[in-house]
Amino acid sequence: MTAAIIDGKAIAADIRTGLKEEITALSDKGVTPGLAVVLVGDDQASHTYVRNKEKACEQVGIHSEVYRYPADLTEEELLKKIEELNQAEHIHGILVQLPLPAHLSEEKVIDAIVPEKDVDGFHPVNVGKMVIGKEAFYSCTPYGIIKMLEHEDISLEGKHVVVVGRSNIVGKPAALLSLQAHATVTVCHSRTENLSDYTKQADVVIAAVGRAKFLKKEDFKPGAVIVDVGMNRDENGKLCGDVDFESAKETASAITPVPGGVGPMTITMLLYNTVQSAKQKIR
Ligand code: GUN
Repeated sequence: MTAAIIDGKAIAADIRTGLKEEITALSDKGVTPGLAVVLVGDDQASHTYVRNKEKACEQVGIHSEVYRYPADLTEEELLKKIEELNQAEHIHGILVQLPLPAHLSEEKVIDAIVPEKDVDGFHPVNVGKMVIGKEAFYSCTPYGIIKMLEHEDISLEGKHVVVVGRSNIVGKPAALLSLQAHATVTVCHSRTENLSDYTKQADVVIAAVGRAKFLKKEDFKPGAVIVDVGMNRDENGKLCGDVDFESAKETASAITPVPGGVGPMTITMLLYNTVQSAKQKIR
């Protein structure tokens, strides 16, 4: 079997086209969606992500403001900025790029964002709502995965989804959103014994371990759907996922590539959440 390659870039473009129309309609009613991004320090990957978020906003017509601060910004100063953005009428989404320098508490900072503007879906109120299946802002990467599978008409209902990874940003919310979509869910992680015993039973594997080409063809059931969240460099410095794409595509029924799979969906869902937030203003 050769797998269908799920084109995340094309699906993201499709969703962004729909968002553009919604944004035009909102702007006609006097509300232009606004996103504020706060970046502290000089982590190069974070700077790249933030630039990409800025560009994506511009492309669909979301107003964006980026606040870049040196690594020695105090927690007090950061919390003051967040409070100002919480109050700002024209800002519907606030995102503080992670990781933060070590002297700043990520927990305190996330808690300081009003849940109504937490378009990252990291605030405990939004996480809690997700757990009980209520509408909320959901973490962008796992939400993007769900939207991507919906777009491909891959239903999770009754399916065994095995999530590999238990981070607060990806693994845990991916498991919860899969459960919400009526899947039977197993969560594996770095301390799981005999990992492939689990992945081999999966109808759908969501790989979010952060290790280059960690899962290979023999770890999957023939015909499985493979979603690869990894963003790693291989031995030649080339971007690759957590799955050995070349071997796995021989056995999967569908697989997401890296790059061009889950990645483009993440920023798209950030735009989506920002638009949802702005919509609340005219209800
Ligand atoms: N760092 C890596 N991914 C993310 C994300 O989705 N949101 C934020 N705020 N920081 C990140």
